[in-house]
Amino acid sequence: MNTKLNVLLLGSGGREHALAWKMSLSPLLGSLFIAPGNAGTRLVGENVPIQVNDFQGIREFIRNNRIDLLVVGPEEPLVNGLREYLEQEILSGTLQMIGPGQRGAMLEGSKDFAKQFMKRHGIPTAAYATFTRETIDDAFRFLASLKPPYVLKADGLAAGKGVIICKNEEEARLELNNLLISRRFGKASEKVVIEEFLEGIELSVFFLTDGKEYLLLPEAKDYKRVGVGDSGPNTGGMGSISPVSFADRDFMRKVEERIVKPTVAGLKKDGIPYCGFVFAGLMNVGGEPLVIEYNVRMGDPETESVVPRIKTDLLEVFLSLNKGDIGTISFEVENNVAACVMIVSGGYPGDYRKGLDIELPGQLPLNSMLFHAGTTVDQENGRLLTTGGRVIAVTSLGKTQEDSLNKTYGLVSQIRFEGCYFRPDIGFDLKG
Ligand code: AMP
Ligand code: GLY
Repeated sequence: MNTKLNVLLLGSGGREHALAWKMSLSPLLGSLFIAPGNAGTRLVGENVPIQVNDFQGIREFIRNNRIDLLVVGPEEPLVNGLREYLEQEILSGTLQMIGPGQRGAMLEGSKDFAKQFMKRHGIPTAAYATFTRETIDDAFRFLASLKPPYVLKADGLAAGKGVIICKNEEEARLELNNLLISRRFGKASEKVVIEEFLEGIELSVFFLTDGKEYLLLPEAKDYKRVGVGDSGPNTGGMGSISPVSFADRDFMRKVEERIVKPTVAGLKKDGIPYCGFVFAGLMNVGGEPLVIEYNVRMGDPETESVVPRIKTDLLEVFLSLNKGDIGTISFEVENNVAACVMIVSGGYPGDYRKGLDIELPGQLPLNSMLFHAGTTVDQENGRLLTTGGRVIAVTSLGKTQEDSLNKTYGLVSQIRFEGCYFRPDIGFDLKG
């Protein structure tokens, strides 16, 4: 490769800051642009005011700035067909893209599609059935045949709110009505998947695939509930740990044989082209991995603990995915533990205030980093302000989980804004 790569990264969260930071370290990088980015991404690249679903704006920017590589952070543009929109650039070989086309993105965009895919290819997952408004009576009968709690999932994208877990049948019937009859999530709840509740401990597994070969990335555990001890409502994620102590060699071998390989083989068999990340949300049920859901992107805040552990140049990895040799690339991960804690706005995941001044520590200790999420810089006075629910992720690397957590919490306590909140118990359920 004699010329450097110009890269456009789509998104504005902690995930994107972590990806941008890692790419910025690559000797292969020319210019790095982040659309729309946040106050953190501007420290490692140039933010451009284009929204992730502004396909026309994205294409113009790619053409005008000779972008060689497009990396898509969130799922929405993929589900909406960004890859198809950029087909001309991709087919002519001027643009490489990390992120699948619309059919591949259905793995995340439709729960029913994902369940059928898993069933067809023998990938372990919870028993399920799918219903529509017309078959709601069958849905009620199906509920009656299950034991509580009941898991209802809106088929389409519902901004992370589409999974509803009901304690009893009455509540489940009510929610089914809300979803199918009142169309609580519009088109996204035209279909509802009802599935068996899986009892166990979750983890997030990531791999990159071109639909033929794959590269397994470090796994992580996300902490989704807002409150101590996994209590309270679900959030985008309050922290993450990588690696996950119970995901030992034996467990990860099962994941690879039963989930990763059949997923890649399934894409190939179904003739679904793919080029990007797959994120399998898994439940460890008594030592056996089952898939809860697929996502077609990296997790947030999992990326903030996974990416800092990767030694290999991320741009090299992306290039090899596009070249077709991702299965044989030499890939190195640090033998350490990353602990990430998310600092969020008071009130999140409910209503919260924006525009609050953020105070940051002057200097960061070695092996600790801040990944911005909901932050922005005031145009007039340059002050750092909050602009989202999840504000800043603090990640530290250490020899042990305890060591990393201590460093991370030491830094967390130095970051302040009015009403800020964080979970004090990230990693509580994992062996140190
Ligand atoms: P999602 O919004 O798709 O990330 O899912 C929300 C959460 O619902 C998951 O992280 C799990 O904690 C939970 N969940 C989803 N499906 C099941 C299931 N079949 N059994 C138990 N918990 C589940
Ligand atoms: N942290 C979970 C997700 O990104 O969906």
